[in-house]
Amino acid sequence: MAAVSMTVNGKAVTGNVDPRTLLVQFLRENLRLTGTHVGCDTSQCGACVVHINGVAVKSCTILALQLEGANVLTIEGLAAPGAPLHPMQEAFRENHGLQCGFCTPGMIMSSLDIVRRKGNNLDEHTIREELDGNICRCTGYHNIVKAVAAGAKAMAKS
Ligand code: FES
Ligand code: FES
Repeated sequence: MAAVSMTVNGKAVTGNVDPRTLLVQFLRENLRLTGTHVGCDTSQCGACVVHINGVAVKSCTILALQLEGANVLTIEGLAAPGAPLHPMQEAFRENHGLQCGFCTPGMIMSSLDIVRRKGNNLDEHTIREELDGNICRCTGYHNIVKAVAAGAKAMAKS
């Protein structure tokens, strides 16, 4: 076992982990932050996307020990319990951008990274291309695309 310390959703956390522990396992099993999902074992689905030092990363592709000193943001960190949803979360709700919801945390974390890199006025082609690494088995993507465009616009005003 090895010790690791990082900041997750603004809080300093430490843990003793097997060196093979993936970040997604550390988040879900050690910290009980189960909003970050595991939808594949091939790094394809994007259900596990979190932000590391402000950049979207599939948390199944990195070891917890590599995150020593890092700043990690998960879906739980976007809005405090009882507080209004983040504008991107609200846009998914408003636009019916989810059905079962399994892909949604990863979709939202990836969407925020798209806004960071591409700005608040996103066209459909850009959104579809940029969400290439996130798989949804329910919605057919149409409402997700609408939600991301609306959420990006709403973030410009918030
Ligand atoms: S669980 Fe990470 S990409 Fe599928
Ligand atoms: S809403 Fe079910 S997988 Fe996307």
